[in-house]
Amino acid sequence: MPSRTRRPGRVRRPLMLGAAVLLAGFAIAVWGQPPHDSTGAVAATPESTEGRALFEESCSSCHGFDGKGIKGQGPSLIHAGEAAADFYLRTGRMPLGQVGDEPLRGEPRYSNSQIEALVHYVGLLGDGPTIPNVDPSQGDVAEGMELFRDSCAGCHAISGKGGVAIGGYAPPLGESTPTEVGEAIRVGPYLMPRFNEELISPKQVNSIAAYVKLTQEPEDAGGFGIGHIGPVPEGLVAWLAAIAALLLIARVIGERLGGSRADDEAEEPR
Ligand code: HEC
Ligand code: HEC
Repeated sequence: MPSRTRRPGRVRRPLMLGAAVLLAGFAIAVWGQPPHDSTGAVAATPESTEGRALFEESCSSCHGFDGKGIKGQGPSLIHAGEAAADFYLRTGRMPLGQVGDEPLRGEPRYSNSQIEALVHYVGLLGDGPTIPNVDPSQGDVAEGMELFRDSCAGCHAISGKGGVAIGGYAPPLGESTPTEVGEAIRVGPYLMPRFNEELISPKQVNSIAAYVKLTQEPEDAGGFGIGHIGPVPEGLVAWLAAIAALLLIARVIGERLGGSRADDEAEEPR
């Protein structure tokens, strides 16, 4: 009888001891990690050494050797994140030719592996937006069109063919990949506002990417591929385009009268 009640106790004690040791080990492993370095010092990994070399050669003249930016040359990249680096490098916007130029889309200046190394390096500088995972096939084109009309068409036009933005030029989106659409939304390049996940959820990004993809399809009789939208009547699209144009005109007039600086306008939603 006594042995029956004792035995489990004998077994349990070492078990509990083992569990305690494991827990303690786990705690040490977790808390013992060096705290995240907020000074932006970059740990050396094979990718970061290549990334650092490239960065020092081609980017530091404007962004500084520490990536903290140089006044009048280039902004700090400490919180730019992998998304911004990937976007600016894959669309050939960086390295910028000359300070003061609007960064424009062009052929990427680096190979895929060099871009990955640079992106990794910029990501190590500090916390920032990571490269979003965008899948247009998970999106809803009708929702995407509505969102695009509300948040993007004022600058890029409902057709995605581009247009004027206050103080610059909003490019056509004909060559933008779904990932670049997601990155632009999260990063807000140049004069474009930045949209966080509260303003545009990841699922809504999929929908916008699906709509942008649709506008990229070859034009047919319905203009910018309206035939593919299906249930949305063409008249409605024409109306939306007209409203977007009116809004833009109103903005330009307001801008002229109000005299507020274009930069303020673009910074506001950040
Ligand atoms: C205030 C005007 C404005 C609004 C609103 C705006 N954009 Fe932009 N967008 C721009 C400008 C200006 C650029 C060019 C940035 C640059 O030159 O670095 C740009 C660039 C882009 C690019 C990169 C295109 C390329 O040439 O590689 C994409 C993709 C994009 N925008 C998508 C969107 C989407 C999607 C929305 C809506 C959620 C949106 N934009 C809203 C002004 C705007
Ligand atoms: C001639 C100066 C110059 C050089 C060289 C240059 N940049 Fe830039 N960079 C700029 C300027 C100016 C901006 C701000 C432009 C803007 O707002 O779109 C910028 C913006 C960026 C951004 C976006 C920052 C953000 O917060 O969204 C990234 C990322 C970037 N640069 C990375 C690089 C990398 C990587 C290189 C080297 C391959 C590089 N740049 C070379 C001037 C430069």
